[in-house]
Amino acid sequence: MKPRIIVTRRWPAAVEQVLAERFETTFNRSDEPLGQDRLRDAFAEYDAILPTVSDSLPASVFPDAGARSRLIGNFGVGFSHIDIDAARQRGITVTNTPGVLTDCTADIAMTLLLGIARRAGEGERELRAGAWTGWRPTHMIGTRVSGKTLGIIGMGRIGKATARRAHFGFGMDVVFYNRSKVDDDETRAMGARQLPTIEDVLADADFVSLHCPGGAENRHLIDSRRLAGMKPGAFLINTARGDVIDQQALIGALEAGTIAGAGLDVFDGEPAVPEALKRMDNVMLLPHLGSATEETRVAMGMKVVENVIAFFEGRDVPDRVA
Ligand code: DGY
Repeated sequence: MKPRIIVTRRWPAAVEQVLAERFETTFNRSDEPLGQDRLRDAFAEYDAILPTVSDSLPASVFPDAGARSRLIGNFGVGFSHIDIDAARQRGITVTNTPGVLTDCTADIAMTLLLGIARRAGEGERELRAGAWTGWRPTHMIGTRVSGKTLGIIGMGRIGKATARRAHFGFGMDVVFYNRSKVDDDETRAMGARQLPTIEDVLADADFVSLHCPGGAENRHLIDSRRLAGMKPGAFLINTARGDVIDQQALIGALEAGTIAGAGLDVFDGEPAVPEALKRMDNVMLLPHLGSATEETRVAMGMKVVENVIAFFEGRDVPDRVA
């Protein structure tokens, strides 16, 4: 008998086809989030649940006992929306999709960096509103990026890909903070320098880009104290998770002019986005597009499929997080 699996959102057609061939698959054709009750029921009805980063799986959706589900195959690399301890306690395996979205997410970090430095969003809004009156030497003056310093918090795959783009593509100096020491040769090869503390990076960088995981350990890592410690005139970029920044503190720092601007692809409590941020011209906002390319989304889906197949064939899953 084929394992029964449930897919919580629409996935790329090519991936859905493979899932339909290999498993007894329930697809969510509405593409609306299933909600906590439906997810709770799914643990009793399916052998595997395939959620995405927009499904919340706190301990309260995990059944106390008697779960049919043995596997959560997450469509995404970040898994702070899943209570990993709750999964472990119940012997449920959790997998993610590392590696395949590195380049595209780094591209979005650079899109935001360039966008806020060169006021691209603001310029486009002006033009579309019919308010552009023509070229003039003092019109919409931004900040040059080459020769400036990019500070990276969290030097995992995506942090490294962003560092390489910034240094080799745009002539930026790169400093970074990472919890563990990054190999010196690798650091040199990225044209970067590792600094001992987050505060050192914030004080040094003209642009700060966040690439650490979300969840309890990094919640509000960038708070009002750290925002105040950023170099005057610096910009903050977040393609990691919304909860890494204290959003109210960020709004305060932007209103007070403590920092010059922000580029955000992720939000605490998304898809809700604070109105105060939407009103600010020095903030570029994207709807969580980091991995949103055809190639990457198919690769992410295929990675989930690879893990699910390995699991039900009794092999080691390649991307186990629990
Ligand atoms: C992830 O995979 O964690 C991204 O945030 C969505 O692609």
